[in-house]
Amino acid sequence: KSCTVYAPGTVANLVCGFDILGLCLSSPTDKMEVKLLNERKIIVKSADGYPLPEDPALNTAGAPLLEIIKDINENIGFEVLIYKNIKPGSGVGSSAASAAGAVVAANHLLGNRFSKEQQIQYAMFGEKVASGVKHADNVAPCIYGGITLIRSINPLDIIPLPAPDLYVTVVHPQIEVRTADARAILKHQIELKNAIKQWGNIAGLVAGILKNDVELIGRSLEDHIIEPIRSQLIPGFAELKQNCLSAGALGGGISGSGPSIFMLSKTEETAIKVEAEMQKIYTNLQVDYHTYISKIN
Ligand code: HSE
Repeated sequence: KSCTVYAPGTVANLVCGFDILGLCLSSPTDKMEVKLLNERKIIVKSADGYPLPEDPALNTAGAPLLEIIKDINENIGFEVLIYKNIKPGSGVGSSAASAAGAVVAANHLLGNRFSKEQQIQYAMFGEKVASGVKHADNVAPCIYGGITLIRSINPLDIIPLPAPDLYVTVVHPQIEVRTADARAILKHQIELKNAIKQWGNIAGLVAGILKNDVELIGRSLEDHIIEPIRSQLIPGFAELKQNCLSAGALGGGISGSGPSIFMLSKTEETAIKVEAEMQKIYTNLQVDYHTYISKIN
């Protein structure tokens, strides 16, 4: 038995919701072909030459599958072939796509025996391999679609939210920012006045999503805690954000742990103008980049 899954990219944090909010993109997607084996073995292969760790325990798709076979105690295993369209290290949930895609395919091949929450629990083992910590703000939107709120990961409490009809423009400057490094530089203590602003924005963002109030969504895309630190790792960030807002974007910021930056727009026309601003900045800075326009899916 085998199946093919398409695992989408995701934007974690949504600016103010560090580790608790994420959205699912309509593109790019990884393609994964997964085969059920009749021995207790996990094999993960790259279909397009992108180097992947051979040891499944060190692989973001392999680690969750090892957990699955550990738990079910049957004589089965999986072989996974990955077509990696979502560049690792780009900040749009590449590791989450591999992890979630592998789990969703395994669940299908095993007769849909796991709930969505259980699939997220397994997929988080892949995130642990990638960044050293379990976080669900990429794997949850990857599995649920739309926007997800992760109220808690222990115990897991996921609240799927409706997807507003917005365009997402993404720029991926070709610089390397490892999630583990981007987490290591964060402060462990925050000032109460910043925490209050952040709570206001998170509440405003969730209210805006539920009410489909795009202006409120835009106003709430502010981050007083993480962005001031992480943006130092991304050349041109402040100017790019300012220019994209002037071009009509509702708001945006660092996608996940970066280096990609995302901006939300109401219309495709604005999303294209925003993309042009992004291209201008990185052309001037002589940093190679890649841009694309997607939708919340
Ligand atoms: N919430 C995580 C972080 C997402 O910002 O570190 C990483 O993709």
